Parts: sequence; C-alpha cells; structure tokens
Amino acid sequence: MDVRSLVEEHGTPVYVIDEADLRLRARTFVEAFRAAFAEVGTSVDVYYAGKSFLSVAVARWVREEGLRVDTCSGGELAVAVRAGVPGPEIGLHGNNKSDDEIRRAIELRVGRIVIDSAAEVERVATLAREAGRTSSDPVPVMLRVTTGIHAGGHEFISTAHEDQKFGVSLAGGAALAVLRDVLAHPELDLVGLHSHIGSQIQDPAGFRAAASALLGLRAELRDVTGRLVPEVDLGGGYGIAYTSDETPIDVAHLARELAQIVRDACAELGTALPAISIEPGRAISGPAGVTVYRVGVVKPVTVSGGSGGSGGSGGSGASGEAEEASDGSTFVRTYVSVDGGMSDNIRPALYGATYSVRLADREGAAGVLRSRVVGKHCESGDILLPDVELPADVAPGDLLAVPATGAYGRSMASNYNNLLKPPVVAVRDGVSTVLVRRETEEDLLALDLG
Ligand code: LLP
Repeated sequence: MDVRSLVEEHGTPVYVIDEADLRLRARTFVEAFRAAFAEVGTSVDVYYAGKSFLSVAVARWVREEGLRVDTCSGGELAVAVRAGVPGPEIGLHGNNKSDDEIRRAIELRVGRIVIDSAAEVERVATLAREAGRTSSDPVPVMLRVTTGIHAGGHEFISTAHEDQKFGVSLAGGAALAVLRDVLAHPELDLVGLHSHIGSQIQDPAGFRAAASALLGLRAELRDVTGRLVPEVDLGGGYGIAYTSDETPIDVAHLARELAQIVRDACAELGTALPAISIEPGRAISGPAGVTVYRVGVVKPVTVSGGSGGSGGSGGSGASGEAEEASDGSTFVRTYVSVDGGMSDNIRPALYGATYSVRLADREGAAGVLRSRVVGKHCESGDILLPDVELPADVAPGDLLAVPATGAYGRSMASNYNNLLKPPVVAVRDGVSTVLVRRETEEDLLALDLG
C-alpha cells in the first residue's frame, strides 16, 4: 500500500502491520517445527507470545494459523478471551501472578499455568481446590526451570542465568524439589517442564543446551518418582534482523537441530520423547510491523568530536549540512524530530536497540545527512536512531518509516508526556483496517477523576 494514502487515512505516528507477513511467520513456525519433530516422532504446539504484540485480531490470525496463545497477565488473558481463543489453547506465565489472574486461568481451564517459584505451587493448588478441582479434574501446570544458560540480546532480556527473577533453578536440586512438591498436590497435573532462556537470540547454542538440561531433569524426575512428564516447552527468543547487518535465526534449521538433540538425548536417557512446545513472539510480530512517523523540526547541531559518539566520524553531505570540520574535531549532526518517540518505541532507550529508517513519502535528493532521529518527549535520551543517513533534503512534513517494529513497540508503549498511543493498522491486499484505534485526549481524561 502507498504509505502516503495510509497516512492520509490514519495519521501519524502509526504502527502498520502486514497481515500476510505476520500470518506467514506464524505458519512457518508451526510447519517447520511440526515437520522437524514429526521426523523424530513427536508433536509440537506453538504458542504465540502475546507480550510481543497482542490484539483481538492478531490473536484470531495466529489461531487461524494453528497457534495457541501464551499470556502473562490478566490483560493478555482478556484479549485472548475476547478473540475467542478457547481456554485450553492458552498458557499463563508470570513470576508474580495475582490470585485473580490464577483464578481466571483456572476458570478458563487454560492449557497450562506455568509455575515460576516454589511458593507458587501452594498458591495455585489452594486456588484450584477453592475452584473445586480435585485429582479427577486437576489443573494442568508446568514448571519454569532456570537452566543457568545465558543467552539473549541484552542483559534485561536474558532470562535463564541464575541471578534473575524467573523460574526455579536446576542448581542444588531446587527444581527437582519443586517438581516433587507439585506431584504431591493431587489437584495439580504436572504436564511439562519449561525453559525460556532469553530474547533476540541469534546463536542456537543456548536453545540446544537448554533442551538438553530440561530433558536431563525430566529423566531425573522419572528416576526419583517414576513419573515421566509428557511435555517440554523450549520457550521463545528467536532472533530477528532489525538492520541489514543482522541475520535472523533460521527457524527450519533450528527446528531440525532441536529435534535431533531431543531425539538423541531421549535415546541416551532412555526416556520416551516428550511432546514439544515453543513460544515465539518477536519472530512472528516483529518483522511484520513498520512504524510511520512524520518529520517535524529539522535542526543542525554542531557536535565537537569528543562527544560525537557513534557519529563521531562526521558526515559526508552534498547539501553541506553535515560538514566535518577540517581538523576533524567537530561536525554537524542533523536532529530530525518525529511526532512520536520513546513512548511508542522504548527499545532504543531501554536496550540500545538498533533500527533502520527510510524516507517513505518520496525518493529524496542525492547526498546524505548524518542524522539522529529523535522523538518529541521532554528527554534528551528520547532517541530512536542515534546515527543514520537520511537523504540530504529531508524536511518537515516528510514521512519516515522504521521497519521491524511489530514486536515490543505498541506492547511496551506508554503515555509519557500524555502522548496518545498511535493506532495499529493492518494492511492486506491493498486494504487497511484499524486493529487498535488511536488514543484520544478523551481516553486519557476518562481515567482522570479530578
Ligand atoms: N516465553 C516467555 C516465557 C517469555 O518471557 C518471552 C519473552 C517469550 C516467550 C517470547 O520471547 P520472544 O520470542 O518474543 O523473544 N521487551 C524485550 C523482550 C522481552 C521478552 C520477554 N519475554 C524487547 O523488546 O526486546
């Protein structure tokens, strides 16, 4: 679709999702993992990690593509329910679930509640009993296990090393003890072991190590209790390409590798193969989304070499706007302000995440401006792209498109500075549809009771 007509209809900033692309990515996970694990003789369920981006339509799409939905809060549960996802096709995570969230999950008969701590076993069991659940109709639970593997793009999104808040450690028999506790509760049904090692992972080694660790624990539990847990969930975290320097993880290749590891490990351990599940989020929604902004103020700033940071090498600039001083000590950086910023994409500020950007309404003149694309928030760290080249004639009114923003953009959006959250618009076959409408000042004021 023509970006200009999209923007004419929906305004800026706007999150645009390519429905066919998102569906294809969802389907690819299902097909690749099912094919790979069918080869070795077991089944796979794919849960779409709603935290990456969930709306009623997206929940429906992924369900139509054969996925289930992974949630981690009452709010995500509510969206899945509104979309008509049946309880048994929903998973619930969370390191600090509220009683209310657990109760709702039990009432909805979700497919699994993933227990995240020793203390949670008794809480879930108590709420299960209160809901009248007994050994003849137990609540399905998994245990999230901390495998000690450090993986992921940034410290904040690495989740399976020891010193962090998620899961129960394998070390010192802690996970084993909690599993035995689960088995001692007749109102709980231990359906699986779970591991999520981190996010934006490019190197498959971590997935391989985590799979082996979980299978080892599964065999150990069988040895101690005689109980062979039927399912192993390998979590999400599949990395995508944010810029042309990055390579996305090869899903089909990874699936085949993991299938072989699971087959070999089970053969070695003398256990039957478990059913497998996975929870990709970013790799489904991320590349399917583009954020479109409108350029406002364009401001050249002279930067002295020492504080140039990644832009310190200076600019080129046929326009003469980004001239490097002859001694190399100063250069001009053009600050290009857009009508959104850290409230619609916190990832650059929070993780130093990198993106690319394109002028989206026209070709642009030859020559480049060394630019920094910034938002409109009252904060100098409100930087979307710290150092990029834009056409030399970029000007107020232009449209800039930032690709690969479908995951953890809208889902982590805030109302900082009382900015209104942008709409999410789906495009398909030349037609655009609003999935989530733009916030209005009335929406903001509706919560303010004066
Ligand atoms: N399963 C569990 C239990 C998770 O905690 C997560 C992500 C996923 C699955 C999905 O991971 P994905 O396939 O999307 O990488 N806000 C950060 C990412 C945090 C991920 C948290 N958990 C970011 O913007 O990079």
